[in-house]
Amino acid sequence: MKIKTLSASLTLLGCVAHTQAALNVDLTSASSIKAAAKLVAANLLTYYHGDEPGGTPGILPGPPPIGDYYWWEGGALWGTMVDYWHFTGDTEYNTKIQDALIFQANMPKNDYMPPNWTASLGNDDQGFWGLSAMLAAETNFQNPPSTDPQWLALAQAVFNTQAARWDMDSCGGGLRWQIPLSNNGYNYKNTITGAIFFNIAARLARYTNNATYAQWAVKAWDWTNSVGYIDKDYNIFDGAHVEDNCTDINPAQFSYTAAIFVQGLGFMYNYTKGSEPRWETAITGLTKRTLNIFFPDGIMTEASCELSDHVQCTTDMLSFKGYVHRFLSQTTQMAPFIAPTIMPVLKTSAAGAAKGCNSDGTCGFRWNTGSYDGNTGAGQQMNALGALMSLLVEVDPAAATPPVTNSTGGTSVGNPDAGAGTGAFEPEVIPVTTAGRAGAGIITTLVLGSFVGVLGWMMTRSGEGPKWVDPVLRKNPLMR
Ligand SMILES: *[C@@H]1O[C@H](CO)[C@@H](O)[C@H](O)[C@H]1NC(C)=O
Ligand SMILES: *[C@@H]1O[C@H](CO)[C@@H](O)[C@H](O)[C@H]1NC(C)=O
Ligand SMILES: *[C@@H]1O[C@H](CO)[C@@H](O)[C@H](O)[C@H]1NC(C)=O
Ligand SMILES: *[C@@H]1O[C@H](CO)[C@@H](O)[C@H](O)[C@H]1NC(C)=O
Ligand SMILES: *[C@@H]1O[C@H](CO)[C@@H](O)[C@H](O)[C@H]1NC(C)=O
Repeated sequence: MKIKTLSASLTLLGCVAHTQAALNVDLTSASSIKAAAKLVAANLLTYYHGDEPGGTPGILPGPPPIGDYYWWEGGALWGTMVDYWHFTGDTEYNTKIQDALIFQANMPKNDYMPPNWTASLGNDDQGFWGLSAMLAAETNFQNPPSTDPQWLALAQAVFNTQAARWDMDSCGGGLRWQIPLSNNGYNYKNTITGAIFFNIAARLARYTNNATYAQWAVKAWDWTNSVGYIDKDYNIFDGAHVEDNCTDINPAQFSYTAAIFVQGLGFMYNYTKGSEPRWETAITGLTKRTLNIFFPDGIMTEASCELSDHVQCTTDMLSFKGYVHRFLSQTTQMAPFIAPTIMPVLKTSAAGAAKGCNSDGTCGFRWNTGSYDGNTGAGQQMNALGALMSLLVEVDPAAATPPVTNSTGGTSVGNPDAGAGTGAFEPEVIPVTTAGRAGAGIITTLVLGSFVGVLGWMMTRSGEGPKWVDPVLRKNPLMR
């Protein structure tokens, strides 16, 4: 009797262990990676309800407190899914992707500044949608009917509206974080915003072969360096305030800022055909620094908030790993010389990511524990999907082709003047809703709050900031 009970419970344990088995994937096989990616993508899309009755196409549930996700993360989701289609050939989600990217474009202005999301409308939020539109052009994703906005023109609209907002009134240039002057953070010039502007400019330069975009990319890169947001060791800091002429630099480092710069540098390198040493030097330096900070032991961690004993990442931060994997892998296509540095690390990291998923494609956040941690969400799913897909540039280069240009098969229709006239934002015509007001933009209360003592602002946005010490700063001897 006793023995029977024991063996019954052992069977039960066996069952539990079986359902908790890790995602089954052979990372050297294209078909195996694609099968695993299909499971993870299906799981990711369970977070999306925008195409259901009563839903808002394009967005993930939000913004807080209505749901977990800010508007920008919907834009990030569709970029992830464009890559999913491109790398795997699976067209299952293409209609959803197209509908989402068009619905949020803000017709007829087509500038990705929809009035609904004014309260969390940062240049970086708008920029993430622009990055996804640019990717759709570069992958030759299906073109919408000509009565709808077109991918290339949408990316140009984001570029044009942001170029028009380039601000010489303080800090010698740069973009403010927020677009409406009534938003918290309008007085902050943050690095991710400049990184996205740089990235889109570099990609438009290569896609259209129009030197004006490249000049803007150079300007954005030079400015970011000149104010010290990037230091000589390629640390990339979060940003600073206009009241202090951008000298009160917040030293927090986030992985996606670095990856968006690396990728943009890759496009500048490719656009200039490798002829300008500055791009090669920066790609090498920034890649090494990024791998060093964010891939300890070859597995990605979001160093500023993924601590050894607990995770204090916000919903935004929980999604950065996927972008980093995708953008670094894409950099190896634009600048093949850096592939031997990047790809081995993406491999070990993706292996960690796969172990962090269950066999049903539900993925956790930590990748360095060898098992699923139960910390789930749309960001965590995008992360694992990004990690799996990032290996395909090497495992299946025939399918994971490099970005096209207007002269190498790109078919998206552009408009150099897209977005003209909407760049000068008029806050009074935009209703500010209370819903998204509390947490505008991508960079979050946690980070901003933690520097309250030093910077003296936004205390109301965080209850736990002052307790927080940047672990990168504490642990890494290369940092000041
Ligand atoms: C804006 O919000 C309204 C009301 O919820 C909704 O009907 C509309 O679809 C939303 N538009 C966008 C672009 O999200
Ligand atoms: C503000 O910063 C810019 C860029 O670093 C610099 O060129 C300018 O002289 C500074 N202005 C003041 C008033 O310090
Ligand atoms: C793209 O190429 C086509 C064909 O060469 C040309 O007609 C069109 O003007 C180009 N578009 C852009 C944005 O450069
Ligand atoms: C630019 O990108 C293409 C496509 O991946 C690649 O074949 C080419 O070698 C790159 N150019 C340079 C200078 O590396
Ligand atoms: C190049 O881009 C600039 C900036 O958007 C634009 O003003 C100009 O018309 C473009 N030139 C061509 C030939 O498309």
